[in-house]
Amino acid sequence: MIERTLIIIKPDAVQRHLIGRIITRFEDKGLQIVAAKMMKIPEQLARKHYAVHEGKPFFEGVVRYLSSCPVLVMVLQADSVIGIARKLMGKTFGNEAEPGTIRGDFGASRGFNLIHGSDSPESADYEIGLYFRPDELCDYDFPDADWIYGQNE
Ligand code: RTP
Ligand code: MG
Repeated sequence: MIERTLIIIKPDAVQRHLIGRIITRFEDKGLQIVAAKMMKIPEQLARKHYAVHEGKPFFEGVVRYLSSCPVLVMVLQADSVIGIARKLMGKTFGNEAEPGTIRGDFGASRGFNLIHGSDSPESADYEIGLYFRPDELCDYDFPDADWIYGQNE
């Protein structure tokens, strides 16, 4: 099923010049970027973004982290993109994420983890709505889509 997911290239990844290499992982996989913008996330928006974690011991820290410096916010679209993007990202922290994943290859921190990706269709809808108006999402086709997403039926 065609899905959309919200990806954030977080402050540490932007500061460490990793934007291009992270986007390349998604492009290499065949995922379609349908929206993207640089922004500094206001604290109140970071609180909404991580609302499901409100009250947990790490909540104030992740709000501070996400709103500390500019980030690149993107919407990716593809069949099953939510799970695919999470696999490409790897486990939550770089010190546990497998090599070959974004967090596993570029991160070793237990606090900063380079990237965010929605974890379900419901959170994707909620998160995309926090950052983009519907008319900011581009609808377009890849000419080689049949080869990228092809099935042998
Ligand atoms: P994200 O939402 O950023 O894509 O990360 P995730 O799904 O892999 O992890 P999640 O459980 O949703 O946690 C959200 C963010 O909170 C911080 N965190 N700290 N100290 C801790 O135990 C802890 N657990 C989570 C991380 O910054 C994580 O990205
Ligand atoms: Mg999460």
